Amino acid sequence: MSRASFRVLGYAGAFAALSLSGCNGPVNNQQGHMPAQPVAFSHAVHAGQYGLDCQYCHVGAESSRHAGVPSTSVCLNCHSQVKTDSPEIQKVIAAVAAKASIEWVRVHRLPDHAYFNHASHVTAGVACQTCHGKVEEMVRVEQVEPMTMGWCLDCHRKTLAREETAPVPSTPRKGELLALTSGSPLPEPSKTPRILRPPSDCSSCHR
Ligand code: HEC
Ligand code: HEC
Ligand code: HEC
Ligand code: HEC
Ligand code: HEC
Repeated sequence: MSRASFRVLGYAGAFAALSLSGCNGPVNNQQGHMPAQPVAFSHAVHAGQYGLDCQYCHVGAESSRHAGVPSTSVCLNCHSQVKTDSPEIQKVIAAVAAKASIEWVRVHRLPDHAYFNHASHVTAGVACQTCHGKVEEMVRVEQVEPMTMGWCLDCHRKTLAREETAPVPSTPRKGELLALTSGSPLPEPSKTPRILRPPSDCSSCHR
């Protein structure tokens, strides 16, 4: 359904229309989607074997809507030295030399009418693996969860019922590393503990 027709029908109308047409099932269910990638990058090697932090490469996860995929120059932090004779690494080196980016194929994608924000979830203490599975064991990334509306709401309702409290962020916050190395006072916590209240009203996820 296009964004426009979604708006015109209105949420309730759209819902009724879909029910009448017998289409109640998930539309976005791309569970199991595992596309081939232009470079044989393995999370099992980088995040598993070498234990690199997810946010070393996905820097946006804690601060913005999109986790983001690293630029090719991040790869060269290591691959200007490591395995430069590998044909796969040569593709990376060639891309950097041509000032081109690698055209990674998206694995997870919600329809345009649904709004999802990484920062709200990651700062509330939801682990990447809760939604993406054991990525650190994947040679090629696969969508393991259905990522349908029912899946989102299920967790929202359970979290609300459990009255969970947001944890204090575990990764160093801005200013914290500086304070630790320079001896200046630690910054105030950016988030005080609070009870989590994930929304279930339509307009929070359909804006
Ligand atoms: C060395 C850099 C690096 C590290 C570390 C890393 N990733 Fe990635 N990640 C990538 C690259 C490059 C891609 C795009 C290619 C692909 O899908 O394999 C990607 C893709 C993904 C995707 C799929 C994105 C989409 O298209 O939907 C997810 C999910 C993901 N990473 C999660 C994680 C998690 C969770 C961790 C930590 C356990 C992690 N990554 C660690 C570089 C990294
Ligand atoms: C922190 C260092 C580091 C970063 C950053 C890094 N890698 Fe690696 N990468 C490694 C190491 C270590 C290996 C394993 C080398 C070996 O098998 O001896 C490896 C292996 C690989 C291989 C397999 C090469 C082969 O032929 O065996 C590919 C492909 C690869 N990396 C792609 C990437 C890409 C693409 C990025 C950027 C998104 C990236 N790497 C970022 C350290 C890194
Ligand atoms: C609450 C569930 C949830 C959590 C937690 C989560 N993600 Fe995602 N992730 C998603 C959804 C849903 C999408 C698809 C978003 C879209 O299409 O707008 C996605 C997409 C991505 C993508 C594709 C590009 C992008 O930024 O949209 C990457 C990479 C990614 N996630 C990495 C991570 C990493 C790394 C973490 C942990 C630091 C993480 N995710 C935590 C649900 C989650
Ligand atoms: C927690 C987030 C969330 C809330 C709250 C939410 N939705 Fe959704 N909705 C989604 C996501 C994600 C999708 C896309 C995935 C899918 O189709 O299941 C979606 C899809 C839809 C679709 C399209 C379904 C299809 O088959 O194409 C309709 C219609 C819809 N929502 C109506 C509603 C209505 C009405 C409400 C309020 C009663 C609501 N949504 C509340 C997340 C949400
Ligand atoms: C595993 C649990 C879990 C899943 C799955 C999940 N969420 Fe959430 N969601 C949360 C928590 C926890 C919060 C934070 C509530 C708070 O800060 O009070 C949240 C907050 C939100 C918010 C409000 C904050 C904001 O960014 O505006 C939206 C919207 C939202 N989620 C959308 C989604 C959508 C869309 C999906 C499915 C694609 C989804 N969520 C899947 C747990 C989850």
